[in-house]
Amino acid sequence: PGLNTLAKAKGKVYFGSGTDNPELTDAQYLALLSNTREFGQITPGNSMKWDATEGSRDAFNFTRGETIVALAEKNGQQVRGHTLVWHNQLPNWVSNGGFDNATLISILENHITKVVANWKGRILHWDVLNEIFNENGTWRPSVFYNTIGEAFLGIALRAARAADPYAKLYINDYNIDGTGAKSTAMYKLVEKLLAEGVPVDGIGVQAHLIVGNVSSTLQTNWERFTSLGVDVAITELDIRMTLPVDEAKLAQQAEDYKKVVTACVNVPRCVGITVWDYTDKYSWIPRFFPGQGAALPWDKDFTVKPAYEAIAAAL
Ligand code: XIL
Repeated sequence: PGLNTLAKAKGKVYFGSGTDNPELTDAQYLALLSNTREFGQITPGNSMKWDATEGSRDAFNFTRGETIVALAEKNGQQVRGHTLVWHNQLPNWVSNGGFDNATLISILENHITKVVANWKGRILHWDVLNEIFNENGTWRPSVFYNTIGEAFLGIALRAARAADPYAKLYINDYNIDGTGAKSTAMYKLVEKLLAEGVPVDGIGVQAHLIVGNVSSTLQTNWERFTSLGVDVAITELDIRMTLPVDEAKLAQQAEDYKKVVTACVNVPRCVGITVWDYTDKYSWIPRFFPGQGAALPWDKDFTVKPAYEAIAAAL
């Protein structure tokens, strides 16, 4: 029946995939990405980031993002907007601009307002804030934190809400899958923002995981998150292994995918699961983690791996 069909039957909103503009020229890739039995949602992997949308000040380019939104609409899929405020893929004019507090606030508000308004009503979830914590739960230094302080969080979320009241607003991070200092920091932040009346609708769990290393506290942690009254979405799931691939690693990977999917199934407000692309052919892992890869449910030849069967069985 396909992973999205199965996810919906379990009460989830979607099973989805990340994607990127260059690979859309691959006909075999595009056909499977567009198959709504497998994928009910897509996320642009790069083309809505700050460097792609506002490479120079107040000069916006929505072309590549629009290609992906239009594809989703043609297919009947939902879109996750990714991402508005991040310390990476941030143009130098922002990171090295030396702006004072008031100027940087206006730059931040302008960026969010224009990007979100451009796709108003067409985005299901926005990753408003991305990777704001260090591993120990302290604030990650960034031009936004260093200049504006903690206030940049509420400023960003309020600007996003004002520009598109329909989109659900998320704070997204990695290494917040299981319990620990970083996920406790996320929990406390969301609790505080909600108490202050700042709009936040969900916590995005990226879930860039390692074969054999998946936390046993996923469900507990996601129950804790959703007890705040927000949703959880698994936003960038991949489970990488040290290459070369062998049968034992593929079997362990299948177990690990099953663990993640089962935890989401067991948490009612875990609304959906997105893999960070679906085929090893276009995974970011080998480029960023040399010697590792094979992290996705389909291999580089578009053949399903044991992980696919495990996901389907868990859904
Ligand atoms: C990655 C993309 O997949 C790559 O193509 C790009 O070169 C770097 O960024 N966390 C995130 C994503 O929130 O935006 C990152 O995506 C992966 C880690």
